Amino acid sequence: MKARIVLLPGDGIGPEVVAEARVVLNVVAAAFGHEWSYSEHLIGGCAIDRTGQALPTETLAACRQADAILLGAVGGPQWDDPSAELRPEDGLLALRRKLDLFGNLRPVKVHPALAAASPVKNNRLAGVDILVVRELTSGLYFGQPRWRETLSDGVRAVDTLSYTDAEIRRVVRLACRLASARRGLVTSIDKANVLESSRLWRNVADDVAGEFSDVTLEHQLIDSAAMRLISDPAEFDVIVTQNMFGDILTDEASVLTGSLGMLPSASLGANNLGLYEPVHGSAPDIAGEGKANPVGAILSAAMLLRHSLGLVDEAEVVERAVYQAIEDGARTHDLGGDLATRAMGAAVCEILDRPYPAADWLPARRFLCL
Ligand code: IPM
Ligand code: MG
Repeated sequence: MKARIVLLPGDGIGPEVVAEARVVLNVVAAAFGHEWSYSEHLIGGCAIDRTGQALPTETLAACRQADAILLGAVGGPQWDDPSAELRPEDGLLALRRKLDLFGNLRPVKVHPALAAASPVKNNRLAGVDILVVRELTSGLYFGQPRWRETLSDGVRAVDTLSYTDAEIRRVVRLACRLASARRGLVTSIDKANVLESSRLWRNVADDVAGEFSDVTLEHQLIDSAAMRLISDPAEFDVIVTQNMFGDILTDEASVLTGSLGMLPSASLGANNLGLYEPVHGSAPDIAGEGKANPVGAILSAAMLLRHSLGLVDEAEVVERAVYQAIEDGARTHDLGGDLATRAMGAAVCEILDRPYPAADWLPARRFLCL
């Protein structure tokens, strides 16, 4: 198969982790007889510095032409001035919105060998296998109006939380579809005891779940869900929630896995074009030091193979290789080890180059992704 992959390394540790994901994609291409063509483009802070735009026009055009997009991270302290006109994050938000990538899949699985790296008691981590489906193109992140004004006695800033029934319906439907291929439980998380938009969310979610005879829908309020995610994480299967709650809950959920550096994500729209990025940020404190964990980016590449290119076997092989590398003791700094970013990528590639594993090599269920 041939595919055009756009790489958006971005800022901070983004280029380092994307480089490892690219190496892994190349090993997969060689092993399975595929051919990828890459083009690399600017986004985020580096794009602001070089072009004066967080999402340059040519980057967006290249993304629209691509079969899939792999992004590193955006942001950094040099662009953090709250009164700056342009922010690196605007580039990422604009890309998600312009490509209408409304469904953000963030799988959270705990590798048994990493349970000790989590501050959560290990007996709570057994069997944790959660797929968070975060709505990505609406809600508080994009609601209008938004403004800041000077009042006679101070300053006021306004953001708007808005959802239409259509926006809710499509993301809940995606969550239900994914749940029917898993344990069949969808937990819809909202704040329906306070917010009107959450009451609409509940009504629509109930409607949509009615279309799926093999899916059970439960509703939970965000505050108690945040607590349950730490106290009883194994109870969750698929979580579906609005943009802002999903952002917060997925950072929280990463604590279960031992490190934010482990988590991949896929942002999907109505067609196959998807944006794949690790959940972690640009980690400016360790940028350029070769200390970043590339696993989130490598597993994002696996999701790219599965969701945009339909290459399920290839995706599983990458996930299994990551699983095995960790089983073998490969650990970057965030996991308490001392492997450099490149060495972690190499550990995964070395396993990929091994002959295809025997059936009992790994647990039957797929690791980390869907
Ligand atoms: C994420 C990030 C982004 C978000 C930032 C960088 C805008 O935190 O992907 O979770 O808030 O969506
Ligand atoms: Mg976030």
